[in-house]
Amino acid sequence: MSDWNVLMVGAGTMGRGIAEVFAAKGIEITLYDAFPEQLKKAKEMIQADMKYYEQEHIVSPEEVKNTEKFISYEENLDKACSKINLVIEAVFEDKDIKRDTFNKLDSLCAPDCIFCSNTSASNIFEIAQIRNPERLLITHFFNPPYVMPLIELVMGPKTSTAVVEKVKDLLTSLGKEPAVIKRYIPGFIVNRLDNVLCREIGYMITQGWTTAEDVERAIRYTSGTRYSFEGPLSLHDVVGWDLTTTVSKNIYQTLCNDTDCDRLGTELIKEGRLGIKTQKGCYDYKGINTQEFMNKRSHKIIKMLKAIRTLDDPE
Ligand SMILES: NC(=O)c1ccc[n+]([C@@H]2O[C@H](COP(=O)([O-])OP(=O)(O)OC[C@H]3O[C@@H](n4cnc5c(N)ncnc54)[C@H](O)[C@@H]3O)[C@@H](O)[C@H]2O)c1
Repeated sequence: MSDWNVLMVGAGTMGRGIAEVFAAKGIEITLYDAFPEQLKKAKEMIQADMKYYEQEHIVSPEEVKNTEKFISYEENLDKACSKINLVIEAVFEDKDIKRDTFNKLDSLCAPDCIFCSNTSASNIFEIAQIRNPERLLITHFFNPPYVMPLIELVMGPKTSTAVVEKVKDLLTSLGKEPAVIKRYIPGFIVNRLDNVLCREIGYMITQGWTTAEDVERAIRYTSGTRYSFEGPLSLHDVVGWDLTTTVSKNIYQTLCNDTDCDRLGTELIKEGRLGIKTQKGCYDYKGINTQEFMNKRSHKIIKMLKAIRTLDDPE
């Protein structure tokens, strides 16, 4: 039996997925949502997710049963807060709603209950006014939470190292790969790096120097292949920092340094090309079935993760 008793506030895309992560490993988790119909939907979606993960062989029959046994669905927040020692907030990305949620949680939960937020874009440390802020941190899961191993753990100015270590140990025991960021910075690690890359890609394409297809080909068949087993720092160790530093000197001054807009994004938005949801983005998605497309995408992620594990642990 686990000592953890978790509350998930918000039963949308992320909330239900995060609940699967904990429950599958036998940890009691309560799903709460301000809109009861979301709880019903979450229960159905969790069953559908488990069916799919069973097909993909990434969940055992016992873990599927655990998601039925260890997730409870609660419409009453007072009741949901009664015996928990960890809460994760995944409500809408709206500062007022998040502030109000943490106000309520602070008045209902034990003063040593750990408070986590799944926010992607809010400085929760300025928003949440809670007693004992040393127990507040961001646990940023990726979608779908059951599949994606990385969780960014972001500390606020008062977050205690002991609390972060405790949460890190817990997430590691669930098979996740936590990465710690010691202060709040917009985008954390992953979205910051994605923006660095996309700013330069947008620059090269809008200058007419290359095409979307060729940039993606270049990434998939070099960095993309290597990144699954060695990050850019390990690569520089292989090449030698004397050489990489000389190369950087020539390149840095020619890089895009826009600070106001995403050049490519702005052009695409003007043309109504928002991506899959408008059936056109950088590429054409006319006539595709979105659910099928997303499942195929998840299938590729799962296959890659299995391959990476084989590389890490050849036995
Ligand atoms: N979707 C992603 O890929 C993703 C990835 C990482 C982080 N996030 C972050 O996770 C959070 C949730 O995102 P999501 O995609 O799951 O959103 P979502 O819209 O799918 O779900 C949000 C849920 O919160 C509920 N809710 C709204 N107000 C509430 C309240 N006051 N009390 C309780 N429940 C309330 C809604 O009914 C809904 O079920 C956001 O902060 C988002 O930025 C999202």
